Amino acid sequence: MSLELERRVRSGIERIEPYQPGITDDELRHRYGLTRVIKLNANENALGPSPLAIRAVQEELPHLHHYPDGASELLREAIAEFHGVTPAHVLVGNGSDDIIKLLSETFLDDGDEIIVPHPSFSQYAFGAHVMRATVKHVPLEAPDFAYDVERLAAAVGPRTKLVYVCSPNNPTGGIMTRAQARWLLGHLPKHVLVVFDFAYNDYSQHPERVREEDGLLDDPRVIGLHTFSKLYGLAGLRVGYGLAHPAVWSYVHRVREPFNVNRVAQRAAAAALRDESHRRASVALAARARSQYTEALRQMGLPHPMPEGNFILVQTGDGRATAHALMQRGILVRAGFSGLDAYVRITYGLEEENEACLAALREVVQHRG
Ligand SMILES: Cc1ncc(COP(=O)(O)O)c(C=O)c1O
Repeated sequence: MSLELERRVRSGIERIEPYQPGITDDELRHRYGLTRVIKLNANENALGPSPLAIRAVQEELPHLHHYPDGASELLREAIAEFHGVTPAHVLVGNGSDDIIKLLSETFLDDGDEIIVPHPSFSQYAFGAHVMRATVKHVPLEAPDFAYDVERLAAAVGPRTKLVYVCSPNNPTGGIMTRAQARWLLGHLPKHVLVVFDFAYNDYSQHPERVREEDGLLDDPRVIGLHTFSKLYGLAGLRVGYGLAHPAVWSYVHRVREPFNVNRVAQRAAAAALRDESHRRASVALAARARSQYTEALRQMGLPHPMPEGNFILVQTGDGRATAHALMQRGILVRAGFSGLDAYVRITYGLEEENEACLAALREVVQHRG
């Protein structure tokens, strides 16, 4: 019996590519008879979660029969204090993915437009497609994939509602500078909201990188996105947050599910925020890995753009073939980004994981060469 579902689903849904989960560690071990898999494909924190977060999770477990605090009050207060804003400036979500979707649901009508850099994080376009909005790509050009703010501003039209800026950009790794952000905000019309995705910003030590601390939030069009999935090592719990003028959130709250962040995640995230030493260790680990990779890649003659996050994009010639060859050696990296066929993205791991990855990469490149 045919259900003829293709005639019933809301138009536009057929254009959304279903998310393709990668191969699991277990499958990989089994397929290639490996004893160990090194996972450098999801920009996670190789140090794991903060011990304070783990303790908070354990303490919360006996209370799982209670619903979470729907307003995530304690966590929002902790985030507000951390950033020097009021709790009304903070919205928390089930990962920052949740907030991207909420922003799309709140602001985008059929036929509205969003502007996204390309290549960049895929969820911006996903949110727009769900709402039948149009995605306008503004290319970041090889070899350095730097932001061109004049091109971003020129892409804005009367139907543009959201402009996304990912800094450092996933997967290319470059930042938007403070001066570029100032120029962009000075040239965008009043009706456009600018979403700065700062998922990786704490990893960067670039002195010119744009940050909320530069008065960004004084502009009511600005939304800053953050996540506990990267620096804080809590990807499995799903917590992200946004900072913006309370008027923005007053609308987003209407669309938000009442219990969108579970109680374990709320407690763990608040505890992680208090763990200054874990945060510092995570930043330091990434900084050492950055030097380790850039030096080794220079010796191998493999080009890579500015790597300001906790990952590096490497031009190997054929990204998918490289990722496959590394996978056979027990190392998972990411390839197949739109417009980046020649590249792989490698997440920084522990020092010896990076060594193993670089040794395997050397072997793959020599073998091919
Ligand atoms: C740029 C960027 N923003 C947001 C996210 C999503 O983070 P979360 O795990 O909080 O949904 C990611 C995850 O990879 C990312 O790379």
